[in-house]
Parts: sequence; C-alpha cells; structure tokens
Amino acid sequence: MKPFQMGLTTLEQEVNLEALPVRGRIPSWLSGALFRNGPAHFQGGHWFDGLAMIHKFSFKAGVVSYANRFLRTEAYRRVMSGSGSSGFGTGGARGGNNANVSILKIDHHFLALTESPGVVEFDPADLSTKGLFPFDDEIPAHMTTAHPHLDIHTGQIINFTVQFGKTNQYHVYTMDPVTAKRRLIGSVETHEPTYMHSFAVTQRYVILVEFPLLIQAAMLAGGHSFADSLAWKAERGTRLVVMNKATGNVERIVQGEAGFGYHVINAFEKGSDIIVDVCMSGSAAAITNLYIDQMTSEAEGQSHPKFKRFILSPGQPDARCEVLSPETMELPSIYYKQCNGRDYRYAYGISTSSARPENVSNQLIKIDTATGQAWIWHEEDNYPGEPVFVPTPGAIEEDGGVLLSVVLDGLQGKSYLLVLDAKNLEEIGRAEVPHHIPFGFHGIYTDERMI
Ligand SMILES: [Fe+2]
Repeated sequence: MKPFQMGLTTLEQEVNLEALPVRGRIPSWLSGALFRNGPAHFQGGHWFDGLAMIHKFSFKAGVVSYANRFLRTEAYRRVMSGSGSSGFGTGGARGGNNANVSILKIDHHFLALTESPGVVEFDPADLSTKGLFPFDDEIPAHMTTAHPHLDIHTGQIINFTVQFGKTNQYHVYTMDPVTAKRRLIGSVETHEPTYMHSFAVTQRYVILVEFPLLIQAAMLAGGHSFADSLAWKAERGTRLVVMNKATGNVERIVQGEAGFGYHVINAFEKGSDIIVDVCMSGSAAAITNLYIDQMTSEAEGQSHPKFKRFILSPGQPDARCEVLSPETMELPSIYYKQCNGRDYRYAYGISTSSARPENVSNQLIKIDTATGQAWIWHEEDNYPGEPVFVPTPGAIEEDGGVLLSVVLDGLQGKSYLLVLDAKNLEEIGRAEVPHHIPFGFHGIYTDERMI
C-alpha cells in the first residue's frame, strides 16, 4: 500500500471537535474559518466521483476546532441505499448533485459547487445540508464550472454554462454577490464544445481557454460517463476565446499550443497584451490519470502540469507560450481578493517533487512570476492539498500572510492543518486531526467567526 493511499480511502466519521492538538503555534490573528470541499466516500472509479464532504477548521485565539459532514444530496442517498451513482468517470444515469468541488459564499449563503448546474446550500454552523439553492432566472445549462470568479473590477461574480443542442453554446453571465441575481453577458456558439474546468477574467475581458479536449454530447446523452465522452484532438490546439465583458462580443479567438489544464491561475492585461497563466500538461492524461486504480498503481511518473503563460499580443493570431518554472504545479492559488484579474507576483500550489516523483502531489510550492524563483515545503510521505492564502491584517506585501493546507501524513494515516509563512514556506504550526481527511479539491477562508 502506498503511503498516500489513505487520501483515497473513505472517511465514514462525522465529527465535531472543540480543540485540536497544536504543534508549533497557530497565529492568534487568524479569526474565522477555512471551509474545504472534496470527495470522502469512494466506490473505486474516478477520484472526482467520491461523495462530497464539507470540512470546517475554525480559528479563535490560536485554538483550532474541526467539524465535517457529508452533503446529503440525491447522489448521497443513492449511494448509501446501494442503488448506485454516476458522475465524472462512471456511466449510467447522471445527476444527483454530488457537489464535491468547491465552495462559494454569496451574502450569508454557503454553496457547494460542481460542474453540473445544481448548487447545494449548507449551513456553515453545523454543516447540515439545506438543499438546492434556487435561482429565479433561466440561464440554460447542462454544465457549468465550479470556478466562478469574483470580478474585483466590478464586484460581480462571473461564470459560464455550457448548453448542448443543435448548436452548442457557452453562456457567460454575471451574478450579484448579494442577491444572486444573474444576468447574461454574452453567448458563444461552438461546433465542438470543450471541457473547461475553469476560465479567466481580466479588467475588460472574460477568456475561455478551450483546450483541445472535446465533449461529445451524443455520447453523454447515450449514457457514457463524462470522462469517456471526451475526445483529444491535439491538432486543434488551444483556443483562447476573448469576450468583452461590457458588450458580450467575442473580440478575438487566439490560437495557442495544445495541452490540457484544469486550472487557470490568473490573467491580466499588461499594456496591450493579455496574459493568461494556467497549470497545463501536454496531453489529456490528467483525466485518466485520476482514476483511483491509476493513482494507486505501481507505475509512477504521471505527467504533472506546469506553470505556463500564454501571451496574447494585438494583431497576432497565435499566443506565445512560456514555461515559468521547471517545477510542477496544480490546485493553484493567489492572493485572490487583491490580485485576481490584475498583474501579480506570487502563485502557490501543490506540486510533485522532481527528486521523488509520485502519482499525487507531495509538496507545496510558491512561484515568483517575475523571476521564476520557487520555494518548496516538503516532508517525506506527507501529501498536501490546495494552499489557501490568508493575509495578515494590515499587511502591505502581496505575500504578507499565511498559507493553510490540509496535509495527509501518509505514515500515520492521519491529516493535519498546516500553517506556513507565505513568504518563505516555513512552518508556523499545525493542528492535528485524529483521522485522515481524503484528498479534496477547493475551499475558502472566511473572516466570519465560527466559534
Ligand atoms: Fe478545480
């Protein structure tokens, strides 16, 4: 058994723990909560198909409490009653709102998201499931992204949906962060819709990054799993669809080198150029590599994504593509509230050690986008999740704060919340959970007091 295997193992217990044992110290200014989302009940198949569980780490005066609960969705009921389920990598009847990817806070509502359009609301106090969040409008959607942006230039949330039909369409919309009212910005017809897990915003533009991984809608409709319905067409290259946020018009479609990435890191306008940073690898293996039997197989050396920068210059039909670091990077994060859509310096993520390659990420990384310098946190047989940046109150510098990451200690089979100094990735402290936490995807930190 590989040391990271517990990260792909079901966690049954739902607990509420007052004060976790702490090693080192937890900064006393941390006063709020980290909410995490991810799969926690597995039936083999694809990592993305595990049932959604919400985890909450609450902070007050250096004390950390922890609670976790499964989302009680239709998918949960189906699996727990033995009638089966389906999702990303498993065929059959689709749906069930297994919202295991990310968390969005709208006003005082906490929402769990996935790539099917149903949004599941949960109670931040006791993590109980409230049900589907109602939208009182009609944005057509068969799919969406679990990576809506908070557009810091307008204060609006932006996301898009995919509608399959005689003509397939992407519908880009804004959503009011208080009322959740949605408004269509613009629609793009596409002959061949592609799988886009995230997208980019800048001051003036929304940029859809169409990697050449096509969704074959007819196969989806025929009961194939989502993963099986994807087709890799490298010769199509990557297309960057640049939509003007104000008009909804597509101003340009720029061609880039082929590859696949789940995550846009950030994007911004610099002079007359548009910069789009992504975590990208050379093929679509990032989909099939994440079947649990592949992840846990003896064969190591999966292709992990790298930090790539597309540069779109005016009048140029092709984007230049640069690699910003030789290190690998996934689940990227930035000082989002300050830097999203703007020129920025630092990106954080999980990564795989070049000295000790494994099929899952085994270190945390910070990359200086100006110099390419990398800082790394690594402990043998420890497996971190997405780092979330929290600024120190009053900090001026972009990296003045801490990173929070849930880490699996593979030897002990237990997880802990790690707190690193974002400047140098040195450990400040950790709060230890008495059990393992399966590898998750995304989360948010909120200043709202939870204890
Ligand atoms: Fe994601």
